[in-house]
Amino acid sequence: MKFTVKSEKPATVKTGCIVLGVFERRRLSEAAQRFDKTSRGLLTGLLKEGEMDGKCGQTLLVHHPRGARCERVLLVGCGKQREFSDSQYRQAVATAAKAVNASGATDAVSYLADLEVPERDTYWKACSMVEITMAQLYKPDAMKSRKDKTSRPLRRLAINVDSSTTATVTRALADGQAIAAGVELARVLGDLPGNVCTPAYLASQARDLGKQYKKLRVSVMEEAAMKKLGMGALLSVSRGSEEPAKLISLEYSGGDAGDRPVVLVGKGVTFDSGGISIKPASAMDEMKFDMCGAASVLGTLKACNEMELPINVVGVIPATENLPGGTASKPGDIVTSLSGQTIEILNTDAEGRLILCDALSYCEKYNPDVVIDIATLTGACVIALGSHAAGLLSNDDELAKDLLAAGMTAGDRAWQLPLWSEYQKQLDSNFADFANIGGREAGTITAACFLSRFTEDYRWAHIDIAGVAWKQGKEKGATGRPVPLLTRFLQDRCAAIG
Ligand code: BES
Ligand code: MN
Ligand code: ZN
Repeated sequence: MKFTVKSEKPATVKTGCIVLGVFERRRLSEAAQRFDKTSRGLLTGLLKEGEMDGKCGQTLLVHHPRGARCERVLLVGCGKQREFSDSQYRQAVATAAKAVNASGATDAVSYLADLEVPERDTYWKACSMVEITMAQLYKPDAMKSRKDKTSRPLRRLAINVDSSTTATVTRALADGQAIAAGVELARVLGDLPGNVCTPAYLASQARDLGKQYKKLRVSVMEEAAMKKLGMGALLSVSRGSEEPAKLISLEYSGGDAGDRPVVLVGKGVTFDSGGISIKPASAMDEMKFDMCGAASVLGTLKACNEMELPINVVGVIPATENLPGGTASKPGDIVTSLSGQTIEILNTDAEGRLILCDALSYCEKYNPDVVIDIATLTGACVIALGSHAAGLLSNDDELAKDLLAAGMTAGDRAWQLPLWSEYQKQLDSNFADFANIGGREAGTITAACFLSRFTEDYRWAHIDIAGVAWKQGKEKGATGRPVPLLTRFLQDRCAAIG
């Protein structure tokens, strides 16, 4: 897909399809009104006849509109003008992308970025349009022997804006494409099955990124080295599987050598059966997505490299399977983590925190400014927040605030949960320093409490993406979240540094 900027009247544009917004009820947007005039009331006529009333998600495709030079016009419903904001804009853009792609037009000009979105500038509208359009065109067909190709898919999209903003928009298009590429990488990896996307596969994907980008250095630690260092918690999870665990590090140096990095730690469980505390059979296939935290780290690093952000970012990915082999950890086993703290494994299905805790201790060596871990960590988070917001917990309110704001801007929202000390005692153990589970209550919080015992020496945030990393049902598949949130957070830091 190619994206360009344009600044031209809709009636004179020569293209396969122009995209115009319509508000409820039957209210043409400004661009649509102009188009309507030159086409001698074509659009008002159609609306009067009841072809469309402007509800969000509606579309109407008109062929060979009179008085214009385009082959088609796509009208897109935008809902009530008074209620038009981020989410309606995003929905209209998504609907348009799908409809144009199916229309047979191979190029199009969109006038949706001309619509007023409260508190959002043209950069935001253009960048979002690229991200959303790219996301709509993705198909999870990497493993299909016959891909069902759209005949005449959309290849070029021009975004119409006021001519005074074309420089900003050119930057927005580049940034949007960088983020979209990061999201797509995260989705592709998430959608691959567990027998393909193994810990070794994630490592090879990381190495490929390292070859692709000059400023990215990648290294992979094997189990023998982990053992030497004392990563007893991480290794306790990989014991039950034939696939060896990998600890993947990616160091992006976009800043100065002395700049303390942002470290992103991603849970990379390439299949989570639960281990000896085995999960029920129904929907267990979805546990191939248990590496979406890792995928989001790779995706975010890809976006950083594409944008050449002027900061240092490190990705750390503990990657393993969680299987119930003959040498698997058993409930009641006690292991010693890299930090020296001992852990009683009361449930082998609470494996994410076991691999993350060693990775979180390990990343101290990077002298991080902040550390953010991203993990499909708890089913409880899905119950608490559903599929709309990720769970956010942090030992630093300033950091939490920045991440929440980045999520709002990126349309990839998180919601903060408390990390109060009162919850900590749920992890008490009779036999070890603490247990790896904290009972039924507040499962997302006690999981974060567990991690907080390994992150006392730096500013840290934890993002539980169990509810947002993939969709269930007919549209089952990875979403690429929270690559947009993380990338926006890093962009904001660059802007703050200046
Ligand atoms: N990967 C799962 C969390 C999960 C469950 C994500 C469902 C998405 C959907 C994690 O490893 C897990 O099994 N967590 C347990 C923890 C419990 C044993 C304390 C859970 O949430 O049930
Ligand atoms: Mn589990
Ligand atoms: Zn898991």
